[in-house]
Amino acid sequence: MPNMPQLNSLHYGDCLEVMKQWPDESVDLIYLDPPFNSNAKYHQLYDTGDDNRGTRDAQLQAFDDSWKWNATAAARVQNLCDALAHPAHKVINSFLEWPGESGMLAYLSYMAERLAVMHRLLKPTGSLYLHCHPTASHYLKALLDCIFRPENFRNEIVWGYKGPSNAKRWFPRKHDIILFYGKTKSAQFYPDGVRVAYNRITGTGNTSLARGNRTPEEVQAIEAAYAKRGKLVEDYWSDIPGAGHMPRHERLGYPTQKPLALLERIIKASSKEGEVVLDPFCGCGTTMVAADKLSRKWIGVDISPHALEVLKVNRFAGQAIPTSGIPADFAGAAQLAKDNPQHFEIWALNCASQGFAPNEVQTGDHGIDGRGYMITQPDGMDTKLVLAQVKGGKFQLGQLRDFLWTIEREKAAMGIFITLHPVTSRNAQAEAQHLGNVTVGTETYPRVQLWSLTAYFENEKLHLPDMKNPYTGRPLQPTLQWVL
Ligand SMILES: C[S@@+](CC[C@H](N)C(=O)[O-])C[C@H]1O[C@@H](n2cnc3c(N)ncnc32)[C@H](O)[C@@H]1O
Repeated sequence: MPNMPQLNSLHYGDCLEVMKQWPDESVDLIYLDPPFNSNAKYHQLYDTGDDNRGTRDAQLQAFDDSWKWNATAAARVQNLCDALAHPAHKVINSFLEWPGESGMLAYLSYMAERLAVMHRLLKPTGSLYLHCHPTASHYLKALLDCIFRPENFRNEIVWGYKGPSNAKRWFPRKHDIILFYGKTKSAQFYPDGVRVAYNRITGTGNTSLARGNRTPEEVQAIEAAYAKRGKLVEDYWSDIPGAGHMPRHERLGYPTQKPLALLERIIKASSKEGEVVLDPFCGCGTTMVAADKLSRKWIGVDISPHALEVLKVNRFAGQAIPTSGIPADFAGAAQLAKDNPQHFEIWALNCASQGFAPNEVQTGDHGIDGRGYMITQPDGMDTKLVLAQVKGGKFQLGQLRDFLWTIEREKAAMGIFITLHPVTSRNAQAEAQHLGNVTVGTETYPRVQLWSLTAYFENEKLHLPDMKNPYTGRPLQPTLQWVL
């Protein structure tokens, strides 16, 4: 019998694998904002890619989700087509006709697997809100209709926001879509939680009120009720500014972060105090913070250790948030290195500095696992590039030599060589020192540093110059620096 996960907890991993372990009908509300690159060229999603590099780690797709039609996607679609009892079976079969074998079908089949599990996890009174982009919302709606049934469709919410645009051949694309479904007809909805002040002049909400067949007395009575209780917000939301206009204190520098007000509205509309809110793609945890503030219980899942660290350090500073799947000690780190070397690499890079972006392509990385940029160029150098290499196995001098050669080849300013155990070999230390020092401002740093996860668990920080946030290019905020 599967166990309910601990409440107010975080879970590291692919949400499909994580959620599979949880019992049926255990969650009241699910909000998901899955990775989808709205900047991806539309046609790319219809391309029949010939990229057969194999499965790319989902984390790496988080910020570069050029979903490709490849062997992995084909196998996933085949499985869904063979699984007669899968709730998305029929719609995936029809997607095979159109859009056909394409990046879009790769994406839709990936979502089908996960949405089916989310449907199972919801209580009969529960609801799901899927945040997506107009490029894919029409397909996702068909997918949700198939899994949730059309009669459980509640709203297609348009979240409109303002911002600059370079559009010349169409109108600036300034809205997201949020698809809202109930699990059953008895899905709960709490209109009183989401009323907005009614402005009689602009009619915010509804200018047509004064027209129609109503008598002036009826109109007056409705307006009086609105004035007293506020008006239920409609399905187009233009009163919540977009990410670019989020209050300064709310911004964490995490790409794709959503405003707190958006999540508060959803949580108030579809849950009560004490109920359980799940975000399977929680990013830097907007949902978790909104749920906590509104006295709901919450569960967050993300495949990026970076996201979970941003969340814990910035959102719940000083609180020991239970986190499954992320190593809590050296033994856990060694286990992760064995079980999932790729996740280990990403996690270890984050331990070293949040200034490193994991290498996008794991194959053919030519000895580089992460790249970052310092803010200030070191004296006498014309680069700010810092490279990192992670080794989860037993240390070999040859690996370090390759890395030193890579630093020279890439003309990097610095290099960080990260291992599980400290490197004690004098030869290795001497070879690393051979590349000398760099001076940044008034500080001098060894150009190559050997650093270990053992040191990390002993709270010995890596001595690095100030770095940029690899996702925004802006300086890492002090709060985003690593804190154990
Ligand atoms: C669009 S962002 C979510 C942003 C979030 N709403 C916020 O306000 O911060 C999508 C997130 O999904 C995560 N992700 C991608 N694939 C995943 C998977 N298979 N399982 C869990 N998380 C995943 C990414 O790491 C990223 O943090």
